[in-house]
Amino acid sequence: MRRAVCPGSFDPVTNGHIDIVSRASFLFDEVIVAVGVNKSKNRLFTPEERMEMLTEACRVFPNVTVDGFTGLLTTFCQERGVHAIVKGLRAVSDFDYELQMAQMNSSLAAIETVFVPTSPEYSFLASSLVKEVATFGGDVSGLVPEFVHERLVARLDERRREEGL
Ligand code: PNS
Repeated sequence: MRRAVCPGSFDPVTNGHIDIVSRASFLFDEVIVAVGVNKSKNRLFTPEERMEMLTEACRVFPNVTVDGFTGLLTTFCQERGVHAIVKGLRAVSDFDYELQMAQMNSSLAAIETVFVPTSPEYSFLASSLVKEVATFGGDVSGLVPEFVHERLVARLDERRREEGL
């Protein structure tokens, strides 16, 4: 039984993430999509909301589950019997940082990182950009699942009201 983890912030999940999870689900017997909970970062969605959206988005993959983790990813992997970390690589600009993390993680624990090249149609896609474009009224409906788009628009409206804009 080979078990992999797809870690990330997923604030919110995009079609690019789902592409990587889908391909990981073909490569491994079990895949855990793990939401990293880093309190120092300002997020649009709470960890629970992010996990809820991921659970809905990954419902179609029978061997995929969703969980959250705090602290080191390698500790989560050791606790959950994970053999590999799966990461999507969008472009060469992702590589330096991802290689550094992969090497640090393998020095901390005997866990391999498997890089999956992002499908070309998603190579520009990042949650941060989706949020920025949506904040300024751009159409991101084709970049995230429909139900995520609805929640994103609603959350940004809430934020605008709170800030009196
Ligand atoms: O979607 P992101 O923001 O690129 O995800 C980054 C994430 C959560 C995968 C990464 O920050 C992480 O693994 N955080 C856990 C803390 C940790 O293990 N840090 C050492 C990494 S070498």
